[in-house]
Amino acid sequence: MVWLRHNLVLDRLAVPIVLAPLAGGPSTPELTAAVSNAGGFGFLAAGYLAAPALAERLERTRTLTDAPVGVNLFVPGTPAPPQTLDGYAARLADDARQAGVELGAARFDDDDWAAKLEALTTTPVAVVSFTFGCPEPEVIGRLQVAGSEVWVTVTRPSEARQAVDAGADALVVQGAEAGGHRASFRDDPAEDETGGIGLLSLLQLVGAQADLPLVATGGIATGRAIAAVLAAGAAAAQLGTAFLGCPEAATAAVHRQALTGGAPTATTRAFTGRLARGIRNRFLDRHSAAAPVAYPEVNHLTAPLRQAGRAAGDPGLVNLWAGQTYQLGRQLPAGQLVRTLAEEARAALQEACERLGPPAAAEDEGPAGGHP
Ligand SMILES: Cc1cc2nc3c(=O)[nH]c(=O)nc-3n(C[C@H](O)[C@H](O)[C@H](O)COP(=O)(O)O)c2cc1C
Repeated sequence: MVWLRHNLVLDRLAVPIVLAPLAGGPSTPELTAAVSNAGGFGFLAAGYLAAPALAERLERTRTLTDAPVGVNLFVPGTPAPPQTLDGYAARLADDARQAGVELGAARFDDDDWAAKLEALTTTPVAVVSFTFGCPEPEVIGRLQVAGSEVWVTVTRPSEARQAVDAGADALVVQGAEAGGHRASFRDDPAEDETGGIGLLSLLQLVGAQADLPLVATGGIATGRAIAAVLAAGAAAAQLGTAFLGCPEAATAAVHRQALTGGAPTATTRAFTGRLARGIRNRFLDRHSAAAPVAYPEVNHLTAPLRQAGRAAGDPGLVNLWAGQTYQLGRQLPAGQLVRTLAEEARAALQEACERLGPPAAAEDEGPAGGHP
């Protein structure tokens, strides 16, 4: 489908700023539409939604904007061996008792994968992006034939190569600074020691070998950082945490409140069974070391606890997803935030150009070229 690559959404954006999909509450049609209407590109999160709920949200988004929007899907994994969960469930029993809830059933599911793909094939959007894996080339091809571009999120060079080979149109390059889940194709605790690859490093590594447009994501909260990733070769910057404070986001009150504090972030599997970055709190500190690799089983297991925490206003029980620069968040309407960030990025790039000065004159121009 070479022809599709000529007129990519990324080449047509007025502003190279992408709203990250923000599953689990914050994502709303209003937020998506506000970013796309401001000349950026808004994603709607489809993670944790059944196909009919996604269709409803897309329909609502369509009433709010004519601009292109995207949908993000989680690529399903494989069930964890059942005994993996027993010890962890026993460990959480006290928290459940204290919160006055029963733990959820630690079940596996594929997040309604086939039905959502089917819906997106019938009613295509401009871009479908994927997280937690690379879909089969057949799936990518089907979406492209339906008229969508396919972006695959990668966290290391080997994943980028796989996505290129599978036929992706663009890569979302996620640095380890990112808030929320690490998008790795496989969540491998053996790699925890490395801490993951930071965004600027990853952009350079992926850019050196993948000849596709790159969307940089992870820890970008200012126009300066947008300027930095554009200078490093990205076609756009995707921001997640920076939009959590917008009035259009349905971010839980306890989460909003925590974003105004200063506690450090950490990565953890305690809430969902998959590595994710959030603001450190009681639950994260107490259970991270014991949490198994079992997604989405652990996500279902802890759901009632997180729900109880949100309802009672207890941030200690809630997954407070946030990237490493969350302290720089601004509570502006999303469209205004996009415009402000774009202005800041322009100013930062200009400042950087001025610092570099004019190009050095060519050697053969002689002493007049500025070399005494
Ligand atoms: C609350 C929250 C929910 C997220 N949900 C998704 C999601 O559904 N799909 C996805 O690909 N990434 C998701 N992410 C990760 C973002 O796509 C992105 O990689 C991350 O927000 C970038 O780092 P930043 O938060 O520092 O901007 C989420 C991030 C946050 C903070």
